Amino acid sequence: MQPVPEQSPLPDNGPPISDVGGPHGPAHVAIIMDGNGRWAKSRGLPRLAGHRAGGEAVRRSVAAAIRHGVRWLTLYAFSAENWRRPASEVLDLTSLLRHYLRSEISALTAEGVRLSVIGEPGRFAEDIQRNLSAAERLTAGNRRLHLTVALSYGGRTEIVRAARAAAAAIVEGRMRPEELDEPRFASFLATAGIPDPDLIVRTSGERRLSNFLLWQAAYAELVFLDVLWPDFGETEFAAALAQYAQRERRFGARPG
Ligand code: IPE
Ligand code: IPE
Ligand code: MG
Repeated sequence: MQPVPEQSPLPDNGPPISDVGGPHGPAHVAIIMDGNGRWAKSRGLPRLAGHRAGGEAVRRSVAAAIRHGVRWLTLYAFSAENWRRPASEVLDLTSLLRHYLRSEISALTAEGVRLSVIGEPGRFAEDIQRNLSAAERLTAGNRRLHLTVALSYGGRTEIVRAARAAAAAIVEGRMRPEELDEPRFASFLATAGIPDPDLIVRTSGERRLSNFLLWQAAYAELVFLDVLWPDFGETEFAAALAQYAQRERRFGARPG
């Protein structure tokens, strides 16, 4: 997990194809990609087929994010709790991750996408860790879309780690306790330098965060879609943006 340097505003590698999101569209969209298993089951297929089809939906969402002028896209690909699944499914998921890392990096580079990882990449096999770091390095200069993939990610663990890092900074005399405020604490999180998500989308009809971006979600708009992740594409992305556009964000202030 590499800390992400400060980087706003993003210069362009090229303008978005259209600006459908408009100036008031979300800058940062985060997605809980759920429903691969149910998609496969409904077709009488093994769960692996659902995860494969989910990979195609990831491609479509990256393209849609770019088209709508979204600057940060964060995808929940594997939770810290997903290690509890049967070993065969974990193996399928890690094999797919290995495959996509090899096949997609040049496409991401060509599209001006920067890739970052949050979570615990150290829990994956060494070759995957190496390829993840290489992909982060290779795409570090890309500015069109900042794609963050959450892998073995858990929001509570992220917060505990940040607390530990802040405590160490105090003990070592690099920071005074009274200097620890919200922005400073956020700088110890894996998402340092990335703005909080404006919009969090979850597919498959489930209405929970499942330990995703707990700190960062404080004022995110939540959109729950019934579509199963492998069926997610441009239309569903646009539908989520349309729901977002209907919301009035108040941040605790009086209704305007
Ligand atoms: C999301 O789909 C993918 C991961 C969590 C890795 P699921 O595998 O959770 O699919 P459902 O929820 O069982 O349908
Ligand atoms: C959340 O989905 C994690 C990801 C989408 C990667 P899960 O399917 O694991 O969540 P629960 O178990 O339904 O809460
Ligand atoms: Mg699920």
